[in-house]
Amino acid sequence: MALLLWLQSQLSSCWSNISVLGVFLTVFTLLFDFMKRRKKWSHYPPGPVSLPFIGTMLYVDFRNPHLSFNQLHKKFGNIFNLQNCWSNLVVLNGYKTVKEALVHRSEDFADRPYFPVYEHLGYGNKSEGIVMARYGHVWKELRKFTLSTLRNFGMGKKSLEERVTEEVGFLCSAVNSEEGRPFDLRFLVNNAVCNVICTTIYGERFDYGDATFKKLLHLFENSLNEEAGFLPQLLNEVPILLRIPGVPQKVFRGQKAFMDFIDVLIDKHMETWNPAHIRDFTDAFLKEMEKGKVAEENGFSYNNLRLVTADLFAAGSETTSTTLQWAFLYMLLHPEIQSKVQAEIDKVIGRERSPTMKDQASMPYTNAVIHEVQRYGDVVPIGLPHMTYRDTKLQGFFIPKGTTIITNLSSVLKDEAVWEKPNEFYPEHFLDANGHFVKPEAFLPFSAGRRACLGEQLARMELFIFFTTLLQKFTFVLPEDQPRPREDGRFALTSSPHPYLVRAVPR
Ligand code: HEM
Ligand SMILES: *[C@@H]1O[C@H](CO)[C@@H](O)[C@H](O)[C@H]1NC(C)=O
Ligand SMILES: *[C@@H]1O[C@H](CO)[C@@H](O)[C@H](O)[C@H]1NC(C)=O
Repeated sequence: MALLLWLQSQLSSCWSNISVLGVFLTVFTLLFDFMKRRKKWSHYPPGPVSLPFIGTMLYVDFRNPHLSFNQLHKKFGNIFNLQNCWSNLVVLNGYKTVKEALVHRSEDFADRPYFPVYEHLGYGNKSEGIVMARYGHVWKELRKFTLSTLRNFGMGKKSLEERVTEEVGFLCSAVNSEEGRPFDLRFLVNNAVCNVICTTIYGERFDYGDATFKKLLHLFENSLNEEAGFLPQLLNEVPILLRIPGVPQKVFRGQKAFMDFIDVLIDKHMETWNPAHIRDFTDAFLKEMEKGKVAEENGFSYNNLRLVTADLFAAGSETTSTTLQWAFLYMLLHPEIQSKVQAEIDKVIGRERSPTMKDQASMPYTNAVIHEVQRYGDVVPIGLPHMTYRDTKLQGFFIPKGTTIITNLSSVLKDEAVWEKPNEFYPEHFLDANGHFVKPEAFLPFSAGRRACLGEQLARMELFIFFTTLLQKFTFVLPEDQPRPREDGRFALTSSPHPYLVRAVPR
């Protein structure tokens, strides 16, 4: 009996030890979490209450983020804070705020957050590509090289414009072979835009029916989809989860396959490379790599070659192709605008000659329509994330170094204080009283400042040449049996139209 009592007392003291330890650990963890989430600065932007561990992640529906953000914007104003687990985010809304950050304090806002989720693709502190690179020497060198190489230097005989013009010829034949039947433009336009990037970077174009090409585009689409949703966000915030064997491979299967594809294209270049005959961007990059140690320190390494070209592909194809899909959708919905564009094409270019970039200056209406497509289509609604490079101030708020910044480009392109009819398709936003083209400063679909889109020149060229050439050859009409297409977008990182069918009637 005594033994039993003794045992019981031992057991219960053990239990109480465990529960004391438990309570202690819980208090400690909560305190640690509290310290991590605490904002010790005065004048930090306001925001919703942050919960233990997850911060404010529950306030945001990652599949439909804009809906949640609307409410937060109403409640807290143009500058508000959020917290993903332990990292701080600040959201900027409206032309005035975004411009002040990106243009007037360009360097303060020029950094990017680090993305551990991409480490399995070879992204790391020594090789970051361009799009997600931290602000600094290597990013500057790679950006400078890429801009000058794309600017028609250093890519062999064929200029960028020739590549675009050649591709639109193939696109027109493909559209023509639909013979005025209803079809979904999306696939052909996407193929054509991807081909422009492909020939520019890898010197290779694919026939639209090509099996390899279909596979590439499919992989690419999957890899974009893998970025959306709660799980990738969480993995990024709690990178230790990525160390669980198999997790990155499982969650990011498409991205991995896409990179494998790129590796094949690059290996092929390395085998056939000839410094006297530079065929494309990859060749130009390889030439830079040959320069040895200094070049390597400036970021010209094999791993960066993979990442930079993957970046150009990712940043340059979906954005441009989606913008064109919006363009043709708006032409369906506004036939009177389509006719005015065609009248201008007939007057300035005629029906025979191919449009060139030189024509743009004499086509204010067409130019205004393309700009309005970009404004109203709002293809990259919240831009790419930035990060503060040093402590900074914005409209009286203090924002510490290392804060992730979301620039709401949508709120700039639809800012009621700037645009006459922000929520309508209205090309006159870009025309003055005399019908001359004007570009309001709040036109920021490519963002602004040091991190602004590097492909703007190529994108402008593609939009103008594709759009005018197709409207020169075809009139786009809604098939009789089809409902009027929706005007609202489907939001991922880009906002694209819901699928629609169209008839391309030869003119
Ligand atoms: C209509 C088409 C396009 C749109 C709307 C667009 C828009 C954007 C936006 C909003 C950003 C983020 C800027 C920021 O962080 O503040 C960006 C970055 C970038 N874009 Fe584009 N883009 C387009 C086409 C292209 C093309 C064709 C290319 C490639 C040739 C390209 C390459 C890049 C790169 C490399 C960056 C990252 C720049 C950096 O971090 O330094 N884009 N783009
Ligand atoms: C961005 O601005 C648009 C338009 O003002 C708004 O609907 C959306 O919720 C905003 N998104 C964010 C992230 O603040
Ligand atoms: C790279 O740097 C970031 C931030 O400076 C750090 O969190 C990360 O662990 C580093 N990654 C590697 C692979 O060294």
